[in-house]
Amino acid sequence: MRVVVGIGGGIAAYKSAELVRALQQRGHEVQVVLTRAAQEFIQPLTFAALTNRKVITGLFSEASQQDALSSAVEHIAVAQENDLLVVAPATADLLAKFAYGFADDFLSTLYLAFTGKVVLAPAMNTAMWEHSATQSNLEVLTRRGNSIIEPDEGWLACGTIGAGRLPDPEYIAERVSSLTRQKKDLEGEFILITAGPTQEPIDPVRFISNRSSGKMGYALAESAAKRGAHVVLISGPVNIPAPKNVELIAIHTANEMRNAVLENLAQSTIIIKNAAVADYYVADVPRQKLKKTAARLSLQLDPTPDILAEVGQRKGDRLLIGFAAETQNLLEEARRKMNSKQCDMVVANLVGQDGVGFESDWNEVDIITRSGQTVHAGPAGKKEIAERILDQIATLRLSLRAVDTPA
Ligand code: PMT
Repeated sequence: MRVVVGIGGGIAAYKSAELVRALQQRGHEVQVVLTRAAQEFIQPLTFAALTNRKVITGLFSEASQQDALSSAVEHIAVAQENDLLVVAPATADLLAKFAYGFADDFLSTLYLAFTGKVVLAPAMNTAMWEHSATQSNLEVLTRRGNSIIEPDEGWLACGTIGAGRLPDPEYIAERVSSLTRQKKDLEGEFILITAGPTQEPIDPVRFISNRSSGKMGYALAESAAKRGAHVVLISGPVNIPAPKNVELIAIHTANEMRNAVLENLAQSTIIIKNAAVADYYVADVPRQKLKKTAARLSLQLDPTPDILAEVGQRKGDRLLIGFAAETQNLLEEARRKMNSKQCDMVVANLVGQDGVGFESDWNEVDIITRSGQTVHAGPAGKKEIAERILDQIATLRLSLRAVDTPA
């Protein structure tokens, strides 16, 4: 893995040289970025010697007249070429910059351009660490999906005892490595995932639909494929690209979704019904566009097939995971759906709140299993939520296999 080590201006910067070594010993290729303040504590030359490559010390640090342009876009190139960004020590100033989206030096600009995993290892004086400003910045960064390695307690350079010490570089390197190891716990599984909305025509140019963006279902499909599963994604119309290594079946209506699900049921081992399927449709769609008149228009709506319930009746020993999107009585409704539709697990979303659920990049869910166990996940990015849901599915799969295997 290619890792960027960003080093902030704190006394703990001296430990970052050991962190670079510990990451290299674990097989990572390391690019170092030093802030201006970090250079007051440790020389770029130390890291250039350790990594045998140029250390980045500023947005325009090496720019001559000729290469000013390439230097100006270097943060984008570094963001694209690397898999993980770890900032250690992450000072209070850096945490604030990252939380608020400042981009006035190389490291903060890189943070904004970086789309891979971000690990922050804060280190500072105890009072600064405990200050509500620092803690609320951390909350923002955690919600954004950044991993935080909490500081240790002990003697600090300022002569006090308390929380704020940068943890042992070996420990940070191990945490970074564990994040870069791709789990393959879904190898051998054939997972059918439904995502997005359905569109139910009311005439040749109009339809009934809902606000589902497909982001949650696509995140599940992408993560499941990365974790080794063969994934078939049955999706309603969305505006996001298909995940890599996933077989995509595009549908529009609930009836089309039902047919696609049933056609792929036999080979599947796990079914995740994330789609927001319309509950009603117009059975007799007029051939011509409905004309506007002064009179009130009534539509005759019929119930769509309940795909989840139908799969529940035919599931055999497959794992069936339903979703429940509710605006009230979330857990009761989710449990009711689990029983009535014969699901093994239900992921319950409280919808209708700002910032999570439909359309948002964020979600907050309760993952409920038939045994009665409930795991809360979020608020967090949908990619993180997808990982947490798949963790629960993999654990459930293992526990059911253990029951099936005679001692
Ligand atoms: O797509 P995003 O913008 O990322 O938003 C994600 C989400 C909020 C839509 C998603 O996480 C979610 O909650 N999906 C389920 C939405 C829904 O339709 O919930 P429901 O409570 O109405 O349905 C319960 C279950 O029955 C769901 O698994 C649904 O797929 C299934 N169903 C519903 C109706 C129907 N006719 N057939 C079904 O199979």
